[in-house]
Amino acid sequence: MGKAAVGAAVVCAAAACAVAVLVVRHRMRSTGRWARAAAVVKELEEKCGTPIGKLRQVADAMTVEMHAGLASEGGSKLKMLISYVDNLPTGDERGLFYALDLGGTNFRVLRVQLGGKEGRVAKQEYEEVSIPPHLMVGSSEELFDFIAAALAKFVASEGEDFHLPDGRQRELGFTFSFPVKQTSIASGTLIKWTKGFCINDTVGEDVVAELTKALERQGLDMRVTALVNDTIGTLAGGRYDDKDVVAAVILGTGTNAAYVERANAIPKWHGLLPKSGEMVINMEWGNFRSSHLPMTEYDQALDFESLNPGEQIYEKMISGMYLGEIVRRVLLRIAKEASLFGDDVPQKLEVPFILRTPDMSAMHHDTSSDLKVVGSKLKEVLGITNTSLKMRKLVIEICDIVAKRAANLAAAGIYGILKKLGRDTVASDSVDKQRAVIAMDGGLYEHYTIFSKCVETTLKDMLGEEASASVVIKLANDGSGIGASLLAASHSQYLELEES
Ligand code: BGC
Repeated sequence: MGKAAVGAAVVCAAAACAVAVLVVRHRMRSTGRWARAAAVVKELEEKCGTPIGKLRQVADAMTVEMHAGLASEGGSKLKMLISYVDNLPTGDERGLFYALDLGGTNFRVLRVQLGGKEGRVAKQEYEEVSIPPHLMVGSSEELFDFIAAALAKFVASEGEDFHLPDGRQRELGFTFSFPVKQTSIASGTLIKWTKGFCINDTVGEDVVAELTKALERQGLDMRVTALVNDTIGTLAGGRYDDKDVVAAVILGTGTNAAYVERANAIPKWHGLLPKSGEMVINMEWGNFRSSHLPMTEYDQALDFESLNPGEQIYEKMISGMYLGEIVRRVLLRIAKEASLFGDDVPQKLEVPFILRTPDMSAMHHDTSSDLKVVGSKLKEVLGITNTSLKMRKLVIEICDIVAKRAANLAAAGIYGILKKLGRDTVASDSVDKQRAVIAMDGGLYEHYTIFSKCVETTLKDMLGEEASASVVIKLANDGSGIGASLLAASHSQYLELEES
């Protein structure tokens, strides 16, 4: 072999060695990245663990807090608010009524023509309007004026098949899905905002008075005859359809539950027993917290940086406003600590709340062989490009952990209510297994199938076969609007006129 040939062989060998070293280094780095990423996910899984024993502890804590909240004002993180609804719809409601549903990024206006037992909901129409984000953190006057203007426009567009008797004022059921301390069925003061709303001049004010002033400014002659939380509206709408409805649960942007309580089991009611002997209680369970809740560093940071730190802890682990954000925080840690998505952290991944729960749900439900929905969401929403199948699978695993923890905790809450109502077991001598129906509503429950299936299965597991046979979970799709109009009807100023 000549000198030149030897030289060339040496150069080739050296180059091959260098490439091999690079490949090995790359593999080692990649293995190291994967090991770190897998460790983060494993830790997440452990910290989010909700074995049935833990869920029972959560349910027990919920029941204890329910008693404490009923016993005295401020006795618990659970406000257990008296709704002044002691007469749920009977089916006899008649006439034209309106509902206004405010509680998330959209609000709804609704008109319903009720036709009594035979006519039922004869006709209904609604419109949905999205709230410009600046109004969610502006002044109350601006927000209520915006809503009142939409309502005035809606009323102006009314067709002839909706009929208001001559000389009557229009009547409205106002679903206001925030914690309100009610002073009657049609008045109450806002305790605090939740779900990203932050309008300070409204807290402590009577929300009906605020809305009424705004309606007057629009020249709209309309009276608010019922002020209700969305859980109360859902319970009322649910009861109208099914007499066995005993509770309502919202799993949407926020979360909450309401149920029918025996009035004499409410010490803070000071013995003012309503005629029916029953009172619907708005639990405000989103504010529940317990040392049994499996809180992680992500939940703690999310809470700390939120508009309402220290509040709505259960809601922040369960509801639609937050699940995507928890997943984003986990992915961000993986990007930072394991550089799994490249040496630089994708900028979008740093933006709070950029990953919305519907996007998380779309990824979680992706059944394509190459998980292409996951790939495109990661790219479009979070700016993470060129993801491998292995990475996409890891993302699904994270969604699964976060969604199932939420669903299990929600199921534990429902179990806690059933326990309070004595419907968690079947009495051994009971022949008549009366149904206990839970009316469910909210976009998270309606659209995130893996989540809702998990709520149902876990609740069944907790109840056991026999007791779960008489518990029914029923989707009351947007029952809260109809419920509010039914309550507006049963508290109408013309009721006595009609009855006489
Ligand atoms: C509010 C509740 C409401 C729930 C569901 C929570 O943030 O505090 O009043 O019922 O969201 O909309």
